[in-house]
Amino acid sequence: MNSYSPKITSPGSIWTRTATVATALACAALLPLGNAQAQSGKIKIGLMLPYTGTYAALGNAVTNGFKLYVEESGGKLGGRDIEYFVVDDESDPAKATENTNKLVKRDQVDVLVGTVHSGVAMGMAKVARENNTLFVVPNAGADELTGPLCAPNIFRTSFSNWQSAYAMGPVVYEKRARKVVTLTWKYAAGKQMTDAFAEAFEKAGGKVVKEMTLPFPNVEFQPFLTEIAALKPDAVFVFFAGGGAAKFVKDYGAAGLRASIPLYAPGFLTDGTLEAMGDAGQGLLTTLHYADGLTNAKDQAFRAGYAKAYKAAPDVYAVQGYDAAQLLATGLSAVKGDVSKRAELVKAMEAARIDSPRGAFTLSKAHNPVQDIYLRKAEGKENKVVSVVSKALADPARGCKM
Ligand code: PHB
Repeated sequence: MNSYSPKITSPGSIWTRTATVATALACAALLPLGNAQAQSGKIKIGLMLPYTGTYAALGNAVTNGFKLYVEESGGKLGGRDIEYFVVDDESDPAKATENTNKLVKRDQVDVLVGTVHSGVAMGMAKVARENNTLFVVPNAGADELTGPLCAPNIFRTSFSNWQSAYAMGPVVYEKRARKVVTLTWKYAAGKQMTDAFAEAFEKAGGKVVKEMTLPFPNVEFQPFLTEIAALKPDAVFVFFAGGGAAKFVKDYGAAGLRASIPLYAPGFLTDGTLEAMGDAGQGLLTTLHYADGLTNAKDQAFRAGYAKAYKAAPDVYAVQGYDAAQLLATGLSAVKGDVSKRAELVKAMEAARIDSPRGAFTLSKAHNPVQDIYLRKAEGKENKVVSVVSKALADPARGCKM
């Protein structure tokens, strides 16, 4: 007997309760077969996200955003109730295949939603492609997902790593920096973001003079800070997020570098982390597809709803989770909840115009958001919008054949 206990959210509530798989299987056995089955009962959503480790807060925010949209829709998508199956992926790529199979093969979810870490998401994409499972990525920026691994069943509501860093190149050049040092965790996200930054910065006329990395999720930054102090670049560009980002910014300040060497980054550095950084984070300039202080009506409603449900302010991860549910709702509504009508469902998702709190966006041919990138400045607990630095930026989708 299977003793696994998935978390299942009851309709009409964002709070979770636990039920055994035995119960779920017993219920499933009572359902009629085939197409009729696809249209009745609950839609099974597999949430595979980090709930422990340096990205835990990010995984929770994505989950909160997703569930908020479902709750606002009466606990349903495409007219059907939702049943959640939840796996903590620990941001560990080595466990990605096994964890994804728990949802795809064992729980037989209709839709796979996840994750935060690019390396884990690539493992998920492999399983999703092999099983033709509908897969929506609410964060991980791995360029491959909407590049060489693009597929009709893979969608993303967040960003590509290229997209989130490319926009920073001209910004840093305009701030009169010419020689820049980069520092990041050594895995796909860090590599692709620092590469995209270098691509844009060098095109503008600057030079990346040194690329430094440390293993994910290490936070022993001291040797790198010592080297930066010795190299004296005009600026430093980094990718860090979650708990590691807060530690890095505090260490950068404590090393006395903030006053002499400006620090730039994609906004993951300061989203959801400003409180933990304290004074060290103030004034940081970052680029991202979301910001505090946007004036669109959707954002105002979203923030009010989020604050009411969770007694907290949302961040970019919450927005991406909310939009993953919105995108799915568009597809599922088009087929009235009948997930067996895959081609029609995919077509509706491809054509969607998502009314996002970040501002409305559409999807590229490779299923990645085409979106505005904001310059933001950290003030108090907020990443205040300064300007739009890149309008309707589309990922080049290198290697995508679809
Ligand atoms: C990623 O691994 O793709 C990633 C993780 C955390 C972020 C952004 C990107 O904040």
